[in-house]
Amino acid sequence: MRYFPAFLDLASRSSLLVGGGELALRKLRLLLKSGAQVTLVAPRLDGDMAELAADKRVQWMCRPFMAQDVLGRALVISATGKPAVDEAVAGAAEAAGVAINVVDRPDLSSFIMPAIVDRDPVVIGISSGGDAPILARQLRARIEAMLPARLGALARFAGAFRSAVGATVPAGGARRRFWERFFTGPVARQVLAGEEVAARETMLSLINSRAAQDREAGSVAIVGAGPGDPDLLTFKAMRRLQEADVILYDKLVGPEIVDYARRDAERIYVGKAKANHSKSQDEINALMAEHALAGKRVVRLKGGDPFIFGRGGEEMDYLEERGIAVEVVPGVTAAAGCAAAAGIPLTLRGTALAVTFLTGHARDGEPDLDWASLAGGKQTLAIYMGVSTAETVSQRLIAHGLSAATPVAVIENGTRPDQRIVTARLDELGTRLQDSGIEGPALIIVGEVARKAMTDAEGPLAAELAALAREPARALAV
Ligand SMILES: C[S@@+](CC[C@H](N)C(=O)[O-])C[C@H]1O[C@@H](n2cnc3c(N)ncnc32)[C@H](O)[C@@H]1O
Repeated sequence: MRYFPAFLDLASRSSLLVGGGELALRKLRLLLKSGAQVTLVAPRLDGDMAELAADKRVQWMCRPFMAQDVLGRALVISATGKPAVDEAVAGAAEAAGVAINVVDRPDLSSFIMPAIVDRDPVVIGISSGGDAPILARQLRARIEAMLPARLGALARFAGAFRSAVGATVPAGGARRRFWERFFTGPVARQVLAGEEVAARETMLSLINSRAAQDREAGSVAIVGAGPGDPDLLTFKAMRRLQEADVILYDKLVGPEIVDYARRDAERIYVGKAKANHSKSQDEINALMAEHALAGKRVVRLKGGDPFIFGRGGEEMDYLEERGIAVEVVPGVTAAAGCAAAAGIPLTLRGTALAVTFLTGHARDGEPDLDWASLAGGKQTLAIYMGVSTAETVSQRLIAHGLSAATPVAVIENGTRPDQRIVTARLDELGTRLQDSGIEGPALIIVGEVARKAMTDAEGPLAAELAALAREPARALAV
């Protein structure tokens, strides 16, 4: 991070603004909004500036800048648009050790000013570190559109009740949950709708009700984190993460996603990688139950979708047997994420009328699958955990009648920055996988639709595949 983000308390502190034109006008408005006492140095003031400078908190020095003007200031802003003057102001501030911002000159500034969304007292500052100010402004416009206009009123309302809530609702988890319920509940809706009198009454009965003081029962949300790209997280998953007291996360969940949790949430890695403090399924179950029974809100965060090769069903049963409230939040499964990222439609009218999700995982060297049904019909196979058994799977499928020329796409680290796609004919799959040294999680897509992943670089192979596909399937006796 190039710049340290912070909000300054300028109330009643002395600030210096140099410049009397349009550039300075915006800065003067902002300084006055934050309650600063402003010394304004400019030989002349433009129209609106003169009006604003009449404020009693502004002291206008009608003359050019002098180096001693910077002394004793909480901060200095130079907004003259004249390089020689701006440089002189920056030099004087630097020499006096006073924080300086020169408008549009990060090279002369010790701090820069963010694009802001102002719902006072809620203020959101957005900075691109000076690299892309237009991007920061576009982000501001998007955030502006998302936030209710009366958000500031809601924050003030909550502030007014802080001490009353502090006196009645026990500190810690219970109080935090009270406020979380408040901001998503009926009182907040009333405030946002401008019905503050009614909101005040509802709030008082909420504070006085026993419900506010009772300790809440814990719960577990089994949440799908998607295949890797954090943008594929659902809104609900995000909300559960931000509400959680404890997060148990898997190996396939990236740190960017775990970082959506609150800073004070406990994060427990329960990945099954042996070198990394692996936890058995029994230990994971016990941990979830232990925290939920202690009244905590637990998120069990899993790669992809919890109910697709994710053991989410077992975990749900375990918790329900112990009377623990469980919620399942679906996620984008690897097949959907990888297919989209590779431009492969899993079904395609006239070509693939079904899609089957299967696991290549094998206890005894060979997955226990119904090969005849997998080899037949116009369908797509999406194979999870299939890299180590790919050779066997391709042999079995060919032996049961699937064409050896069937296109296959293997997507490693799908939807992540290091995504890689390897394509092959079905009968070459084992060798191609060995040669390409796939190590990350990989999804294997078998079927005519995988032809879409053939790149130009693989033109000759794609052409060969197309020719072979026109041959009748080589059905072998089983
Ligand atoms: C234990 S399963 C979990 C599947 C997960 N519940 C889901 O819905 O995607 C792990 C397998 O999912 C597949 N997988 C998960 N994330 C992947 C990704 N980003 N790219 C490719 N395959 C992935 C791989 O086949 C991996 O071996």
